[in-house]
Amino acid sequence: MLTENKKVILLLLLFVALIGVISCSKEDPPVEKSELQKRIDEYNQSDKGLKDYYTPDEYFYMGVAIPSSFVDNTAKVNLMKRHFNSITAENDMKWSSLQPVEGTFNYVNADKIVSFAEANEMKIRGHCLCWHNQVPSWVFRDGDATASKELVLQRLRTHITTVMTHFKGKVYAWDVVNEAIDDGSSVYRSSQWYNICGEDFILEAFRAAREADPDAKLFYNDYTAIDATKSTKIYNLLVKLKAEDLVDGIGLQGHWTVSYPADNLITNAFNKYVSLGIELQITELDVSVYTSGSEAEKDYTTAVAQQQTAAYERYFLAFRNFKENVTGVTFWGVADDHTWLDNFPVAGRKNYPLLFDENLNPKQAYFEIIDF
Ligand code: G3I
Repeated sequence: MLTENKKVILLLLLFVALIGVISCSKEDPPVEKSELQKRIDEYNQSDKGLKDYYTPDEYFYMGVAIPSSFVDNTAKVNLMKRHFNSITAENDMKWSSLQPVEGTFNYVNADKIVSFAEANEMKIRGHCLCWHNQVPSWVFRDGDATASKELVLQRLRTHITTVMTHFKGKVYAWDVVNEAIDDGSSVYRSSQWYNICGEDFILEAFRAAREADPDAKLFYNDYTAIDATKSTKIYNLLVKLKAEDLVDGIGLQGHWTVSYPADNLITNAFNKYVSLGIELQITELDVSVYTSGSEAEKDYTTAVAQQQTAAYERYFLAFRNFKENVTGVTFWGVADDHTWLDNFPVAGRKNYPLLFDENLNPKQAYFEIIDF
């Protein structure tokens, strides 16, 4: 016969076992997937990309700027092939890369990007032929002296003619001159180009470009090109270039933030440029999660994501509203794992300015701009 104690212990054991069975059977309720995760699951089941939602005939080319090393990175290649039909070299087509020493041209990295683009039927934007940055000092030197205007202009013509001839029929559009307009009270930036040659370097650059490849579309490219004052200075320059039929479009870089620029600034500037009958391209789009250089580093929280998503939606609504005039939108980078904004304006401050996160997954902003 079971003693009382043994009965109690048995009952206890049965009770514990019962509890165990009940708790095991009660599956943890499935974790409710976030809306974003559900969209990402759908995205992973599809092969549709940005260039399918924004086709060039109805909207504009979808572009991306890359270093040549990216064409050897399978994950990045797959993402680029899915979403983009236009490529820009982030640095490999700049003067310091192509002609580091006078008369010696090095196209290795640039040609790598061109071959990748051609193999994947992507357009190629050339960036950039004449800029105050990433240009070797020899361009402005004549021995120990500063080179004369004639010598500098001759070197400019030689560089443009040689480079455009090399990429003729491959590069469909060039940023001929980049960032020549002053941000302050002057009209032109006091660069070595301007200080030695005056505004003639701009006109000479476009004349050489038009002559070197008459089929290429020629752009003047700048940042803050939507600013009321700066856009007027750019407009006046474009009028001068148009007078000689030397320019086909304005490249608005688009290094914007979650709060700048306001819609009216974009609309007013776009209308100003459209009135000249030229193309508009957004050539270096990224949307910084910081609005100033004094902001401390922050994580990419849901709140930050929502702020950025709202900004991207505003910007793409503006691009769609001007779809008759905007012929290309290029992102200045593929994903948040590689962006110049991690070191500008604050060195080492992590930024998240693009549509794909550091793991190349689409962010909320991506899904927002494809829903229209
Ligand atoms: O190639 C050298 C490498 O040999 C050296 O080891 C390394 C060490 O610092 O520097 C490398 O050069 C860097 C170059 O990018 C290539 O990675 C330069 O330091 C660095 O300053 C340069 O930054 C580029 C910047 O233009 C130069 O002004 C950025 O990647 C590029 O995104 C940025 O792009 C510009 C556009 O052309 C024009 N509009 C603004 C935009 C952002 O600044």
